[in-house]
Amino acid sequence: MKQYFKVDEWRIIEEGFNSHYNKIAESVFSLGNGRMGGRANFEEAYSGETLQGNYVAGVYYPDKTRVGWWKNGYPEYFAKVLNAANWVGIDVSLNGEQLDLAKCKVLSFRRELNMKEGHLKRNFRAVTASGREVEVETIRFTSLADDEAAAISYTIKPVNFGGYIKLTPFIDGDVVNKDANYDEKFWDEVAKHTWNDGGVLQMRTKKTGFEVATGMKYHITVDGEPEHIEAEPVTREKYIGTEIRMEVKQGQRVTLCKYAANLSSQNHPASDMLELTQQLLEKVCHKGFDAMLAEQAAAWAAKWQLNDIIIEGDAAAQQGIRFNIFQLNQTYTGQDDRLNIGPKGFTGEKYGGSTYWDTEAYCVPFYLATADQSVSRNLLLYRYKQLGKAIENAKLLGFKDGAALYPMVTMDGTECHNEWEITFEEIHRNGAIAYAIFNYVNYTGDEQYLADYGLEVLIAIARFWAQRVNWSADRQRYVMLGVTGPNEYENNVNNNWYTNTISVWCMRYTLEVIEKVKAASPDKYKELTGRIHFNEETETGRFKDIISKMHFPYDDNLQIFLQQDGYLDKEQILVKDLPATDRPLVQKWSWDRILRSPFIKQADVLQGLYFFEDEYDIDTIRRNYDFYEPRTVHESSLSPCVHSIIAAKLGDIERAYQFYLRTSRLDIDDYNNDTEDGCHTTSMAGTWMSVVQGFGGMRVKDGKVSFDPLLPAQWNAFAFRIGFRGIPLSIRVSQSQVEIKNEAADEDVEVSVYGQSYTVAAGSSTAIPTKNNY
Ligand code: BGC
Repeated sequence: MKQYFKVDEWRIIEEGFNSHYNKIAESVFSLGNGRMGGRANFEEAYSGETLQGNYVAGVYYPDKTRVGWWKNGYPEYFAKVLNAANWVGIDVSLNGEQLDLAKCKVLSFRRELNMKEGHLKRNFRAVTASGREVEVETIRFTSLADDEAAAISYTIKPVNFGGYIKLTPFIDGDVVNKDANYDEKFWDEVAKHTWNDGGVLQMRTKKTGFEVATGMKYHITVDGEPEHIEAEPVTREKYIGTEIRMEVKQGQRVTLCKYAANLSSQNHPASDMLELTQQLLEKVCHKGFDAMLAEQAAAWAAKWQLNDIIIEGDAAAQQGIRFNIFQLNQTYTGQDDRLNIGPKGFTGEKYGGSTYWDTEAYCVPFYLATADQSVSRNLLLYRYKQLGKAIENAKLLGFKDGAALYPMVTMDGTECHNEWEITFEEIHRNGAIAYAIFNYVNYTGDEQYLADYGLEVLIAIARFWAQRVNWSADRQRYVMLGVTGPNEYENNVNNNWYTNTISVWCMRYTLEVIEKVKAASPDKYKELTGRIHFNEETETGRFKDIISKMHFPYDDNLQIFLQQDGYLDKEQILVKDLPATDRPLVQKWSWDRILRSPFIKQADVLQGLYFFEDEYDIDTIRRNYDFYEPRTVHESSLSPCVHSIIAAKLGDIERAYQFYLRTSRLDIDDYNNDTEDGCHTTSMAGTWMSVVQGFGGMRVKDGKVSFDPLLPAQWNAFAFRIGFRGIPLSIRVSQSQVEIKNEAADEDVEVSVYGQSYTVAAGSSTAIPTKNNY
């Protein structure tokens, strides 16, 4: 744990220049607006350690997979989000000497991410090798209001010299991905157009043929006064720039405002994009930097109004949760059902920017409670639209009759994972997709979704499970062989309890939804079952048979569910007995050793107990938690949050708090030694869950929202906001009381707190004494 950044409730602050931490800081200070985003690379040249990253949502490349020996069923390619044209670059030359912090003596350096208003500031004083001292101040943001635009204000002051400086704002499309499997470049130039104060570069991705036009327009002020300076466009392949040479006096402040735009052919006809980019640049330039910055602050204020979490008395925890909420809102805004949430958002290349089960298992609950219903609906529709490909995917593996296996890793519905031995058998992802439908309908009450889209997906998923199990004559039970559960430190196991449990739940839920849709929308039901050739009698008969005769591994002595058949054959050593030098295991141990060990990467049995808590009594949950947690190394960022929620449910508030801190500050404090690759964006939704579902104890059942709050000893109070079926609610938990405020203008709401029902009238609040937990 590094504790490198300063603790502040609304800002992330880096003081001093530490080139060693630069890649971590680039990840943490990333900016995005749902359409585009990127790492906090410096504007001026930097020859030190850096990972260049600018990304455009939905634009990817099918990089050919690298494997040893090819096997049938192996995905053709590993899709990856592309490092796109660099729009932040501004080269700075001082009397012919390039400004490059890696080659300077840095006298002071500070970066500050303002999460309240959505912008990044940087300032430094540095002396070049030849002794020229400069002061630089930058502000930049990717605009929420104009989500294809961004802006930078770059101010430079020569401190101890006067003379020529040259500023070259540029767009550079000659970029690479760090993780390109064959060191290929993925972009070709299509066109470019420059003019006196800017230009546009249009690039096309190889194979996928996405086109992105990236443009810039700038203006200059000297000591705050607009200055017209002759500039010279420079172009070369995949690059446009404008060289601005000016004579500057010592102490003068030169500010270059660079407006940038990124348009993608997913949203515009490629042939019009040069012109459209130019028009957008005119528009934002006309608006001006200050107006854009004010709009940005207003747009963020509106977001925070919906989903801020306030933690009183613990600034580190407060900063952690705000950082997580900030990153989630930067990554996905929910306006476009073709887009999804990559595990690293716009902060790095790892995981290829693709969609994982993370979205359904972790992100959907966050967006359900903190954004308009249409946002989580769009996440569901994303999968609905890919159903055809999921059926195709299952067919390739030998399934039939409309069975669907959703991909573990995807951009457009096609399976494109890169790790046969782990990912291939993680069929549990199908369950999470069904679970998200349940979650959405349960939270919103939008049952029409089931008739319109949900049931079709559920039947296809249930069909898959019904074909994936087999009858064991020996056990006289159905079994599921050769799978990988959420714990990726076990591969190709038989009867993973979580997978068996979620598969049976899927079939049960499908039966329930069939009855609902049949009753509420008989015509739709008829149309659907006809179209997908669903034989209700035989197919539901099979589902029921499997539901009643599934094998669930269990140990009678310990009275716990077994993660999989044979788990107890492993040598039962605990994480606390591992030398610190052996961790993280994934970096220190051979894969063979990991697979043979009892160590669990992330919640597996506990993930199931979290999803289906109502089906198990508290002692069962406790016994399993007490057994599995000491064996869990939490080497997936998705792990601590589930443990935090379960610990809170069990009343173990101290451990819940420790897990919470670990999840919420995972990237800020670089817990897993991997923040330099990017932030763990999808697990940030888990952090939110650990406050709202863990400490807040929020649940939704039978159309009613309930809370069972606990206050960690380290906090004076905490408060969160949710929207529930159109009603904005704000909940504050202090040492003395739980206050529920109904912020709706004219609708009352019924809530339950600690098992007791209350009606909270519109515009008023209800207070209940807080349960004393310690
Ligand atoms: C986890 C998976 C997760 C993936 C992407 C892996 O480390 O084990 O559960 O889907 O990361 O976040």
